[in-house]
Amino acid sequence: MTVPLFLCICFGLICSYVVADDGNSAAGFGYTISTLNNASSGQSLTANLNLINSSSVYGNDIKNLNLTASFETKDRLRIRITDSNNKRWEIPEEVLPRGPSDSSNKTKQGFNNNLIQQEHSLTIENSDLIFTLHNTTPFGFTVTRKSSNDVLFNSSSNSSNPASVLVFKDQYLQLSSQLPKDRSSLYGLGEHTKSSFKLQPDYQKALTLWNADIGSLNVDQNLYGSHPFYMDVRSGSKDGKVKSGTTHGVLLLNSNGMDIFYGGDIITYKVIGGVIDLYFFAGSTPELVLEQYTELIGRPAPMPYWSFGFHQSRYGYKNVSDLEGVVSNYSKTGIPLEVLWTDIDYMDAYKDFTLDPVNFPQDKMKKLVDNLHNNSQKYVPILDPGIAINETYGTYERGLKADIYIKRNGTNYKGKVWPGDVYFPDFLNPNGQAFWGDEIKLFRDQLAFDGIWLDMNEASNFITSGPLQNSSLDDPPYKIKNSQINNNAIPATSLHYGNVTEYNVHNLYGFLQTKVTHKALTNITGKRPFILSRSTFVSSGKYAAHWTGDNAASWNDLAYSIPSILNSGIFGIPMVGADICGFLRDTNEELCRRWIQLGAFYPFSRDHSDKNSRRQELYLWDSVAASAKKVLALRYRLLPYFYTLNYEAHVKGTPIARPLFFSFPEDVATYGINSQFLLGKGVLVSPVLKSGETKVEAYFPAGNWFELFNLSKSVTVKSGKKVTLDAPSDHINVHVGEGNILALQGEAKTTEAARKTAFELLVVASSNGTSSGQVFLDDGETLDFAGGNEDWTLVKFNATLVNNSISVASNVTNGKYSLNQKWTINKVTILGIPKGKISTNKKNGTLTNSKGKSDVKAQFNSSSEFVTVEVTELSQLIGEEFKLEIETK
Ligand SMILES: *[C@@H]1O[C@H](CO)[C@@H](O)[C@H](O)[C@H]1NC(C)=O
Ligand SMILES: *[C@@H]1O[C@H](CO)[C@@H](O)[C@H](O)[C@H]1NC(C)=O
Ligand SMILES: *[C@@H]1O[C@H](CO)[C@@H](O)[C@H](O)[C@H]1NC(C)=O
Ligand SMILES: *[C@@H]1O[C@H](CO)[C@@H](O)[C@H](O)[C@H]1NC(C)=O
Ligand SMILES: *[C@@H]1O[C@H](CO)[C@@H](O)[C@H](O)[C@H]1NC(C)=O
Ligand SMILES: *[C@@H]1O[C@H](CO)[C@@H](O)[C@H](O)[C@H]1NC(C)=O
Ligand SMILES: *[C@@H]1O[C@H](CO)[C@@H](O)[C@H](O)[C@H]1NC(C)=O
Ligand SMILES: *[C@@H]1O[C@H](CO)[C@@H](O)[C@H](O)[C@H]1NC(C)=O
Ligand SMILES: *[C@@H]1O[C@H](CO)[C@@H](O)[C@H](O)[C@H]1NC(C)=O
Repeated sequence: MTVPLFLCICFGLICSYVVADDGNSAAGFGYTISTLNNASSGQSLTANLNLINSSSVYGNDIKNLNLTASFETKDRLRIRITDSNNKRWEIPEEVLPRGPSDSSNKTKQGFNNNLIQQEHSLTIENSDLIFTLHNTTPFGFTVTRKSSNDVLFNSSSNSSNPASVLVFKDQYLQLSSQLPKDRSSLYGLGEHTKSSFKLQPDYQKALTLWNADIGSLNVDQNLYGSHPFYMDVRSGSKDGKVKSGTTHGVLLLNSNGMDIFYGGDIITYKVIGGVIDLYFFAGSTPELVLEQYTELIGRPAPMPYWSFGFHQSRYGYKNVSDLEGVVSNYSKTGIPLEVLWTDIDYMDAYKDFTLDPVNFPQDKMKKLVDNLHNNSQKYVPILDPGIAINETYGTYERGLKADIYIKRNGTNYKGKVWPGDVYFPDFLNPNGQAFWGDEIKLFRDQLAFDGIWLDMNEASNFITSGPLQNSSLDDPPYKIKNSQINNNAIPATSLHYGNVTEYNVHNLYGFLQTKVTHKALTNITGKRPFILSRSTFVSSGKYAAHWTGDNAASWNDLAYSIPSILNSGIFGIPMVGADICGFLRDTNEELCRRWIQLGAFYPFSRDHSDKNSRRQELYLWDSVAASAKKVLALRYRLLPYFYTLNYEAHVKGTPIARPLFFSFPEDVATYGINSQFLLGKGVLVSPVLKSGETKVEAYFPAGNWFELFNLSKSVTVKSGKKVTLDAPSDHINVHVGEGNILALQGEAKTTEAARKTAFELLVVASSNGTSSGQVFLDDGETLDFAGGNEDWTLVKFNATLVNNSISVASNVTNGKYSLNQKWTINKVTILGIPKGKISTNKKNGTLTNSKGKSDVKAQFNSSSEFVTVEVTELSQLIGEEFKLEIETK
């Protein structure tokens, strides 16, 4: 890292220091406001900007810019800055549809056209955001929270940091914001493997966004996906106006390569194309930020119920009997196996949509898949985007005929991947989309797979093609901190349909492939698709699940999986997991055991290993098998909870696995936690992440917490603190917090079998008197969640502890669906009733439902500081509203 060179630049009366990070003069000097107009709707304003002084660093400046600020909804402010005179690359609406805007409200504070004052503000009624233009030299803008005056974003240049000036060139955009260093905690801006979930300030190190096939074992490198979105959680201000946990989100919707620099008190974007298209999401809770963010980019996809079962995969399975052995060993050991995966081994010479005629012949594969299906299990194969160049290969020939391959320098671009020389389908081309869908259909006619795994779709390329002569696309003036943008990639000068350059859409390739695959599977099966994609972009979660890519079998990688999974949730891709036991390198018994203990609580739970590393199926070591049975039994009991969290993600964008601050935003001690997470709002997972340890130091936010493997064990903290817990080698600590109601089902070896068991309600009494929870039920495979044909049920539960009575009640929407399934609740357990609040003499309860009132037996257990009440032998239909009341005195 070279030491930055500081220069003093003066114009007019303003002097500022300018840093030249790559050359010896400044990248730019900013703009001033020339004219100002507010749109007739009153929800937006446009300013025309003029360049102050030109600089030739990274190319010539664009002289005139238009800045438009608009309130798209009361919680969403958009700021777009682009060339006044020339159209530039922007992600088309049809590629990434933006969520609805609401234009019904008028501005509260207007202003006179063309009358430029020192400051101009824009806001609308009911919005907590204010946009303010500062008519300074250079100009700046701020976004402020109305209710507290907290400045959320401040682009005004800061004399001590020249990179704070707005720069706008054809291949270089620069924008900064000052941040309140001590009160701002940032999350997001990926995809990167990080040791810390909260972004650590380091202004010298770029967070590069450029999709690449770089193994996720590499920390702080650009990986497979690009998500220029962050969440900013503010700690309380001294004047008390800002409450701790007040949160907003910021998206820079831009598909070009970029470096982002975060220094604690500043964030700087350096982008190599497109426009500045910033979105602010008002929050003001973390949950609301994600609700608002996913309203714009698309809500996470409904996942099939079976995808919450346990998955086994490996690169290097030898043949069909190898696969059969894996299935039979899981069955013999009694470890649940829901889904069997095959990597590229199954293909004929690694060609997509083919089967190896010797080791994975069609008749045997068909029999294997039929057997899996007969046992309520599933099968998912891999597909890579590169199509082998081979004249005897039908897929290749059909692609050639349809003319759907990406081009460069006047001909199809030839890359190299697993099968050797390949062409890459262009998913921007409507014929390319049809081609891909047709090939999937033809392949599924051969083999009835249940989902598709999209790998290598950054897109990865084993060769790096040299630049075309004089092309500033292959060799842009500003070098993002990827080794070279064409490195192991489809070169930037390649062309897509409509002459769109790879330079502009590189980061969209995997996203587009996912979207096309989703459409094809929806059409072919008529059911909810399951797609796992390595490469992602903003909005990928609307179509697919994600795994964290090529990690390694190391204790560090085990720990990094938590920040990676939390980030994916924040990016709107909540169905996510890391390869359990590690992908690259040899795992070992202890690591694999600790990893399945954690991985059983990943939203997506899959064991996957590399060809060059030892096998790691869970049955291979007795201690791993025993621990796997224990933890997966709890996962399967929690399936209704996982599934309901997927439903919540789909309707509100809330992640399945969440940082602690989602439920405890006011507790600033949760902001830096990297080693624990919550499932939903109240299940706390506290894994062992180090070799040789049998204790774990876990942070508990205030309240009563009950251990899910052994409900008589509890932790009570008055205000949040660290607690040392036993974590013997076969055990992971999983606690449920007060105020939650979980609907559980029984243990089973498949999700289908689990769905046939009775429900049990676990009610954790709340100190403030009210507990709540819900369960969403449908067939697990219908295209939509909660569609119009009412083939689903939503049951909300609440429980109150007042005076001398405990009551648990349900509220049912569309009960008919689950009444037809005859699902029943056969047990209600109420935990956490403080001893003083209850007399254990009375043991009477009544159940009220449509059949009237009946008596139930309640059993009281007061071995700990709490009283537990168990009501068993119930057969209450879950689709019917009920009220359970227990007299306690
Ligand atoms: C306009 O105001 C109504 C309530 O007054 C609010 O529900 C709606 O979201 C607002 N519209 C916008 C553009 O935010
Ligand atoms: C920029 O603003 C000017 C003046 O308001 C307008 O004439 C022009 O069409 C705008 N350009 C773009 C690209 O919107
Ligand atoms: C084309 O594919 C066939 C069948 O897999 C294979 O035998 C042949 O070697 C391939 N040809 C080339 C040029 O790779
Ligand atoms: C591009 O095409 C031209 C004309 O066919 C050819 O001369 C040149 O070598 C090609 N360049 C590359 C890098 O393939
Ligand atoms: C794409 O570029 C080529 C060559 O520059 C040109 O002939 C063609 O018309 C362009 N096509 C479109 C759709 O812009
Ligand atoms: C699939 O697409 C075809 C052709 O567009 C259409 O006729 C068919 O109804 C679709 N099938 C499903 C299940 O959507
Ligand atoms: C009661 O506490 C629970 C968590 O313990 C919380 O979710 C709920 O909002 C609280 N309700 C009230 C009325 O304070
Ligand atoms: C059930 O919930 C709905 C929506 O929240 C509410 O309108 C309804 O009154 C509730 N029913 C009962 C019996 O509480
Ligand atoms: C609990 O639910 C019942 C029935 O839906 C409702 O009448 C009651 O008001 C709810 N109580 C609380 C505290 O939310």
